Amino acid sequence: MPKGPPSAYDALRCKTSSLSPSFGPIARTYDFLNHLLSLGCDFRWRRQAADLLGGRGPLKVVDLATGTGDMALALLRRREDVAEVTALDISEEMLSLARRKAGRNGLAQRVCFVRDDATETSLPAASFDAATMAFGIRNTPDAAQTLEEMCRLLKPGGTAVVLEFSLPGNRLVCAGYLAYLRFVVPLAGGLISGNREAYRYLNRSIEAFHQPAAFCHLMEQAGFAHVQVVPLTWGVASIYSGSKR
Ligand SMILES: C[S@@+](CC[C@H](N)C(=O)[O-])C[C@H]1O[C@@H](n2cnc3c(N)ncnc32)[C@H](O)[C@@H]1O
Repeated sequence: MPKGPPSAYDALRCKTSSLSPSFGPIARTYDFLNHLLSLGCDFRWRRQAADLLGGRGPLKVVDLATGTGDMALALLRRREDVAEVTALDISEEMLSLARRKAGRNGLAQRVCFVRDDATETSLPAASFDAATMAFGIRNTPDAAQTLEEMCRLLKPGGTAVVLEFSLPGNRLVCAGYLAYLRFVVPLAGGLISGNREAYRYLNRSIEAFHQPAAFCHLMEQAGFAHVQVVPLTWGVASIYSGSKR
């Protein structure tokens, strides 16, 4: 597939590849900060993403860049038709927290956490009914390649649901949100996690990442049809969904 000219996001990835967060050092405080900095909205956003899964059960789902497992666990809690989730992440530290959380919640039997690279997994093609990815695609080295990998993992007609930060369309709301991202997030994130740079990366990567129209186009290019976007909380995050052609 022909690739377009490099976007601002590509440029940021090149410039900051050495700064792209390894989530290991912030794994311990990740959940707390995630809930604090999203003012608790992330729980609701993941539930909404889970509701967008299509298909008829029993569903086999893969959750990419699962981190501490919140998307995988939201799927299992919310959807009785989800039979099993394969949840992968590149960080062993994040996965070990996810395994413990699944155990505490009595969900360990229905989820398997594996270390793997979302851009090129070792999982067989066309083996899942649905694929999810929450706040992960922005952190992979190549969003287009990751979408192609999601598509490869799905059976024909299978659904992909991607939850990711975006910038609000309303200029006033966007200005307020940017001030929050640029000043409050690195300050609070740095103080609590001890890693200010990881939270500077968060705001830079959100600002430079594909915005909704461009991301929908990327999904179509990766092989998805019926691509839709649902803006969340004035557009500070968006849920994208599409089905494998
Ligand atoms: C912001 S966290 C999101 C975690 C979780 N999905 C959530 O909803 O909170 C991003 C995760 O992406 C993972 N990640 C980054 N690059 C990855 C890759 N190439 N393959 C798999 N996971 C990756 C990181 O290790 C981290 O756990």
